[in-house]
Amino acid sequence: MERTFIAIKPDGVQRGLVGEIIHRFESKGFTLVGLKFLKVSRELAEQHYDVHRERPFFSGLVEFITSGPVAAMVWEGDGVVASSRKLIGATNPLTAEPGTIRGDFGVSIGRNLIHGSDAIETAQREIALWFKEEELVSWQLQLTPWLYE
Ligand code: RTP
Ligand code: MG
Repeated sequence: MERTFIAIKPDGVQRGLVGEIIHRFESKGFTLVGLKFLKVSRELAEQHYDVHRERPFFSGLVEFITSGPVAAMVWEGDGVVASSRKLIGATNPLTAEPGTIRGDFGVSIGRNLIHGSDAIETAQREIALWFKEEELVSWQLQLTPWLYE
């Protein structure tokens, strides 16, 4: 089953949106298989955002992600990578559609509340970076027959 990596950034934690965001993924029908709350090290932040290393916003982004606690998660389900990006909304919350997490709760690109893997391969890399294999729990959601044909 497909998995994705989701992180509620320090602004989402400070805004008190951890419960709201988890609720949206649960209500959608995805399965939580990993969850931890941590202060991110500079090393982890730099590895996570490695693709953006040469971008002008890189140092500010790393500074921000390491500035406070983050809620890191792995969610599972059919098409969960692409669907999560839809639940999250566009990178800039000002242009993100209402009904998405960023569209409903944010106003600026540098404070866009949540990260979601952008492709299946990226998800695999990010899950391995943030979680040890034994921290991920494989379990059967009893609702499955009511979610999938
Ligand atoms: P994320 O990786 O955090 O899920 O966000 P994303 O895919 O929607 O956007 P991405 O292009 O990967 O950018 C990563 C994060 O960098 C910050 N950013 N700032 N100031 C800027 O122009 C700018 N552009 C991107 C955002 O916080 C974005 O989420
Ligand atoms: Mg990204």
